[in-house]
Amino acid sequence: MTLREKLTETVNYIHDQGVDRVEFGLILGSGLGELAEEIKDATVISYQDIPHFPESTVVGHAGQLVYGTLSGKKVLAMQGRFHYYEGHNMQTVTYPVRVMAALKAHSLIVTNACGGVNTSFHPGDLMLITDQINYMGTNPLIGTNDDEMGPRFPDMSHAYNTSYQEVAKKVAQSLGIHLQEGVYMAFSGPTYETPAEVRFARTAGADAVGMSTVPEVIVAVHSGLKVLGVSCITNLAAGMQANLNHEEVVQTTERVKEDFKILIKNTLAKL
Ligand code: HPA
Repeated sequence: MTLREKLTETVNYIHDQGVDRVEFGLILGSGLGELAEEIKDATVISYQDIPHFPESTVVGHAGQLVYGTLSGKKVLAMQGRFHYYEGHNMQTVTYPVRVMAALKAHSLIVTNACGGVNTSFHPGDLMLITDQINYMGTNPLIGTNDDEMGPRFPDMSHAYNTSYQEVAKKVAQSLGIHLQEGVYMAFSGPTYETPAEVRFARTAGADAVGMSTVPEVIVAVHSGLKVLGVSCITNLAAGMQANLNHEEVVQTTERVKEDFKILIKNTLAKL
């Protein structure tokens, strides 16, 4: 079955559940899924019921799509994403973004929990993603290109939409939320980085490191979606604090999720 045939089946199923117009796709990272609970007139679709969707296996991810209205916009939110480290291939990891594009979304908001590399960051900071470094060793667009879906050689010069960034910054300022800015660098995981890898990331120009987002944004750009990215710095990266664990990641998102939700909702209202 071709990608396009699969997408048709997935989209038909999602339409049959009552999803019609989608403006914004929303990918909610570890511990940040609660935002979907604020979606009005919600239609919830479990990943396991969606044709060609895999199941997500990470703690802190619900594994469902939530469709409805948020800040006056029609959104389709993913509560939980697919990671490369789970063993999915890159086409699977990015399949939901293809689905959002096929549902005619014009924009994608990506969020994640990640480690701070920039020495001026603190756990609990929110960071506007200005650019990214693909260090996963692969790319979701490897293979035959379907020219009707997007170009063979997508331009990544403005992967994160500049006007969306301006809006997010103004909104953060008006809310009194200190919004850091920086470059997100993706490693495959599932190991956290070594201290040497974190020094390497900093030298390479990264402000934060994580295990997601980059493939999704590549496919979003390929599909012509405008992207806004917000990270939650849940910890300082390896070598910058005593040690790392997933519990701290969950605890930090728990602590900052109110600011995160307010920032995304108020930004969305102005996009
Ligand atoms: N590294 C990679 N991924 C992460 C981190 C980290 O320090 N924290 C949360 N996700």
